[in-house]
Amino acid sequence: MIDGRKVLFSGMQSTGNLTLGNYLGALKNWLTLADEYECYYSVVDMHSITIRQDPAELRKRARNLLTLYIAAGLDPEKTCIYYQSHCSAHAELAWILNCFTYMGELNRMTQFKDKSAKHADNINAGLFTYPVLMAADILLYQADVVPVGADQMQHLELTRDIAERFNNLYGDVFTIPEPYVGKVGAKIMSLQDPEKKMSKSDENPNGSIYLMDDADTIIRKCKRAVTDSVGEIAYRDEQPGVKNLINIYSACTGKTPEETVEEFAGKGYGDFKAAVGESVISILRPLQEEYGRLSKDKAYIDQVIRQNAERARHTSYRTLRKVQRKVGFPDRLS
Ligand code: TYM
Repeated sequence: MIDGRKVLFSGMQSTGNLTLGNYLGALKNWLTLADEYECYYSVVDMHSITIRQDPAELRKRARNLLTLYIAAGLDPEKTCIYYQSHCSAHAELAWILNCFTYMGELNRMTQFKDKSAKHADNINAGLFTYPVLMAADILLYQADVVPVGADQMQHLELTRDIAERFNNLYGDVFTIPEPYVGKVGAKIMSLQDPEKKMSKSDENPNGSIYLMDDADTIIRKCKRAVTDSVGEIAYRDEQPGVKNLINIYSACTGKTPEETVEEFAGKGYGDFKAAVGESVISILRPLQEEYGRLSKDKAYIDQVIRQNAERARHTSYRTLRKVQRKVGFPDRLS
């Protein structure tokens, strides 16, 4: 709670090209919740360097992602949209929280296991303590709610455990955050392998719809989506490819999976896939147009970056100072 308003925090990594999974699992819910909460949306560029990055490319992607947040409809006057690296409180709190997190807890994180298998030549300490930095992000703003896709739930649970541990030792310092995971769209799967989540880092570009894909590419990818030989549009685990397409269509149109199944009863996969493609285009087209317009407005984006970093620092330093006092760091004399 900040000044009587409930707080929302969330972030995305500026690594790779954003996918439809990022949009339907996170960004879309950010938009629905934006009016209800005091919101902080971070471009978490510090998390990105846990994997080796090209510096110029990372800088460009971070700016593109920040622009995309605004293009999607988040208002930077009302919500705080900022770069994590512009607010050093994140790193400072992460250090302190590292001292309240156990190796065993971090060892259990499935994202760490996946990423270290994928980047076996660079299993750095940052990759291991990644969830602690994420906990710092959330706890600095005393977030009540954190909208994320299902893959981030384990990190959210760890954040809650760390916060509770700290509060038990030092009193009520941190708000315990609740995850917010949407009903449909929380886990969008690869179009080529519906057992795997749609991911920015998939080697097969046909598995993911990228937010900047043009209409023809979107239709082509949907038409090529892997389904099955059952031939029936039904919402069940035995038909993971079809289930995923139903989730995508439902999330894009605002329908429930049951309504979608009803709508396409008796239709073939071909017609359904084309309709899925059209539903995706209808939500991505306005986003792409706005993004194109905004990315040309350098002065405006610069001003958002400057103003919001200031806001983020203001809020987060209040929590950081409190934590520093609690753990016994000397007061700052002015
Ligand atoms: P990241 O950048 O991998 O993903 C950003 C958001 O997109 C969601 N997501 C998906 N949702 C549905 N289906 C998918 N296939 C899919 N792929 C990704 C993710 O769940 C996420 O919500 N560690 C985080 C970033 C982060 C963060 C935070 C999030 C850092 N600090 C604090 C919330 C609060 C990450 O790597 O997300």
